[in-house]
Amino acid sequence: MTQSKKVDWGILSTAKINRAVIPAIKNFEYSTLYGIASRDEKKATAYAAEHGFEKSFGSYQKLLDDPNIDAVYISLPNGLHYEWILKALDRGKHVLCEKSITTREDEIREINRVAGEKKLWVMEGFMYRYHPFFQKVLQYARSDRVGEIQNIQISRAAWQRNPQDIRLQPGLGPGVMGDVGCYCLNFCRTIMGFEPLSWDAHVRYNERGVDMEALIRLIFSPQKTAQIFCSFTTNGSFASIIGTNGRLNIVEPFWVREGEREFLYFSDDGQKQERVKVAASKTGHALEIEDFTMAILENRPPYLPLDDSIDNLTILQDVVENGKPLSDAG
Ligand SMILES: NC(=O)c1ccc[n+]([C@@H]2O[C@H](COP(=O)([O-])OP(=O)(O)OC[C@H]3O[C@@H](n4cnc5c(N)ncnc54)[C@H](OP(=O)(O)O)[C@@H]3O)[C@@H](O)[C@H]2O)c1
Repeated sequence: MTQSKKVDWGILSTAKINRAVIPAIKNFEYSTLYGIASRDEKKATAYAAEHGFEKSFGSYQKLLDDPNIDAVYISLPNGLHYEWILKALDRGKHVLCEKSITTREDEIREINRVAGEKKLWVMEGFMYRYHPFFQKVLQYARSDRVGEIQNIQISRAAWQRNPQDIRLQPGLGPGVMGDVGCYCLNFCRTIMGFEPLSWDAHVRYNERGVDMEALIRLIFSPQKTAQIFCSFTTNGSFASIIGTNGRLNIVEPFWVREGEREFLYFSDDGQKQERVKVAASKTGHALEIEDFTMAILENRPPYLPLDDSIDNLTILQDVVENGKPLSDAG
């Protein structure tokens, strides 16, 4: 790590999602858009020129070998995260990795162990957790307005029409659960504030074994439950949080952009209806980059701990591997 007051960032891959993160690194006063790596050297050079990186690299390992780089953002397909997180830690880099951080619980436990040993920060990029919209939902859900939470319903669906997409390639990622199901699990666990006692799932797999749709029930206690639906064959997202005093209805609960948005609150007695407006001056990605950068400079943990990722992934892996195939549901 350099002694400068700025964090020099490197990015592994030229993935589409980088477009949300590059301006965040560029615009923050304590971070530098230093290096971009691609499997293809020409692509890396052109990408660096287009986005204003200081250096480009024709392989991911070459970027990791540059001693100027303090932190890497990994936007590779999910199935490659584990390998490259360990390689980055080995070269002394802090790591912000896209969700879902790995595909297996034993892998995230190993990452946690190595990061602890090397005194480096690793965080999974659940950027929505930083955003004022989710912070306001959480504040309402935990207040007397909602009371004791009894049930959460959440749905997140994202069309995958391109058969070449990384999400549909066995080995590169665990399908719909790793892509969008991870958000829904994270949302339910965070809103409830503790871990479920048990869960069960029905999953529809395609002919190549990729999970395309999942229905999950989470039992947190006999009177605290959640249902999740996630899908690659429809689109859109909503959530409802039902408590003993009232409920929240939320369209697009994972909204992370700048601007203004609202969710609805209804009291149980029918007396109150509120449109809760939330304004955001920064994106979730910007807030995430700023926090992770400052965690490095101030030598303090970033906002989202790896223990949270371990708990999320324990359920995720079980759903993908042991979900009851929908064709057998009867
Ligand atoms: N937080 C969010 O808002 C958000 C949104 C979307 C996606 N994501 C996550 O971000 C990651 C990337 O998603 P994306 O849709 O942006 O990916 P993408 O556009 O498909 O790009 C993936 C990149 O990985 C590299 N790569 C290495 N090996 C590859 C292989 N065998 N096949 C294909 N690409 C390979 C390629 O970069 P080079 O050719 O340059 O090496 C490629 O550009 C995933 O983990 C996803 O879950 C997060």
